[in-house]
Amino acid sequence: MASPAPPPSTNPVPARWRAELRDVLITEAQIKRRVAAMARTLVRDYAGRDLTVVALLTGTVMFLADLLRRLDIPLQLDFMGVSSYRAGTESGRLVYTKKLRLGIQGRDVLLVDDILDTGRTLASVSARLRRLRPRSLRTCVLLDKPARRVAPVTADYVGFVIPDVFVVGYGLDFAERYRNLPFVGVLTSASRG
Ligand code: IMP
Ligand code: MG
Repeated sequence: MASPAPPPSTNPVPARWRAELRDVLITEAQIKRRVAAMARTLVRDYAGRDLTVVALLTGTVMFLADLLRRLDIPLQLDFMGVSSYRAGTESGRLVYTKKLRLGIQGRDVLLVDDILDTGRTLASVSARLRRLRPRSLRTCVLLDKPARRVAPVTADYVGFVIPDVFVVGYGLDFAERYRNLPFVGVLTSASRG
């Protein structure tokens, strides 16, 4: 699926966040349009199937809510908890914090995450899900940062390809903060400690 990079950002940072963010990388309006387009593609691709959406906690919260309400097809939803315990912004060891509750054997599964960065998370979770013998398994991410890839992973559905910057907002955090921003922004280096 085509995944256009966001246009060069000329979007002002809201005054409230100016001390902490140096840029708005993707605006609320851009996200809205792109998520709607992704949903149309998914509805087309999964027409006549019986979909199980498996979303990773916690970063998918906003993307998932906006995407799901536009998927007017039969589906089941489940969550897996997985954290890359890392110092600050570096990816580290993966810890599973919530197991899948639904059975996915023989099901068409769509794995949703917020961002594909090193690829370790999607590689590890995909391998786990495949062992449960789904009928099909595809992956869907809001953001893709290909510059940082370590594991040989690509996502089947990508919202935006972004440069190698640490982003927050629209579900994505730094030290559990900023998930509530309605846009995707870039932290100032001072805010990253
Ligand atoms: P991975 O490196 O592909 O395994 O990325 C795993 C996780 O790291 C993602 O699900 C995010 O939670 C987090 N992550 C990676 N890059 C960023 C970022 O730029 N901002 C916020 N979280 C990130
Ligand atoms: Mg995450």
